[in-house]
Amino acid sequence: MRKQIAAANWKMNLTYTEGQQLLAGILENDLGSKENHEVIFAVPFPYLIMAKEKTTTLKNYYIAAQNCSNKKSGAYTGEVSVDMLDSIHIKHCIIGHSERREYFGETNQVLAEKVNLLLEKDMTPIFCCGESLDIREANTQNSFVETQLKESLFHLSAEDVQKVVIAYEPIWAIGTGKTASTEQAQEMHAHLRSVLAAQYGADVANEISILYGGSVKANNAKEIFASPDVDGGLVGGASLVALDFIEIIKALK
Ligand code: G3P
Repeated sequence: MRKQIAAANWKMNLTYTEGQQLLAGILENDLGSKENHEVIFAVPFPYLIMAKEKTTTLKNYYIAAQNCSNKKSGAYTGEVSVDMLDSIHIKHCIIGHSERREYFGETNQVLAEKVNLLLEKDMTPIFCCGESLDIREANTQNSFVETQLKESLFHLSAEDVQKVVIAYEPIWAIGTGKTASTEQAQEMHAHLRSVLAAQYGADVANEISILYGGSVKANNAKEIFASPDVDGGLVGGASLVALDFIEIIKALK
C-alpha cells in the first residue's frame, strides 16, 4: 500500500522555543506507526537543524523545508538552495504552495525546475496544487489542476514521478475553516490519479501518495483520510497544536 502521510506545514509561525516545545509535545507520545505511515514536519528554514536533531532517531519521521530555490546557487539573496538543504540532510521539501504561487509569482515552469533540482539530490518534492474559489465556482477545477500537474511534473520519467508526493489544496479551503467535502476531495484525488495513470500507467499512478490540504482538523481527518484516493493530509493551523496534530496522525488509514 502506498505511503500514508501526515504532514505539518508550520508556515511562518512559532518562535524557536515554541517550535521546540511543539515538536517535543508531539514526539513524546507513542503514536505507533504502521510501516507505510510517515510523519513530516515542514518548519521554517532557521529551525531545520533543531527539528532534525529531535526526529533523527524516529523511524518514518522527517523534517521538511517549506520551499527551495529553482536556482542551483549564486546571487539570489535570501534564497535557500537544494544543495544547502541536502548538506544538512533534509530530504523533503514542499514546493508550489498556493501562498508562494500567489505572493511570490511561482509558475508551473519554475516548479518544474525545483522538482528537477530536488530529484537530482534524491529528495522528495511535496508538490502542491489546487484551484481558487472562482475556478471551483466555474466548475473548471479538474482541468486547472490537471494543467498544474502536466506543466510541472509530466516531463519526468515514470521512475522519477513516483518519488513525488502530491498535495491537493483547494485554495478556498486553506485557513478558512471551510473544508472540502469528502466527496469533493475524493473526486479530485481520483481525477488526479486518473491523469497520472493516463500518462504513466495505473501501476505507477497507484504508487503516488496524494495528500489533501485545506482545513484538516482533528475532528474531520479520519473521514477525509478514509477515502480511497486520499493518502493523508498537509496540515496548517491544526499542526500548530500538539494534541490536534497527534489526532490527525492517528487518523491515517
Ligand atoms: O499547507 C497546508 C495549508 O495550506 C493548509 O492550511 O490551516 O487550512 O490547514 P490549513
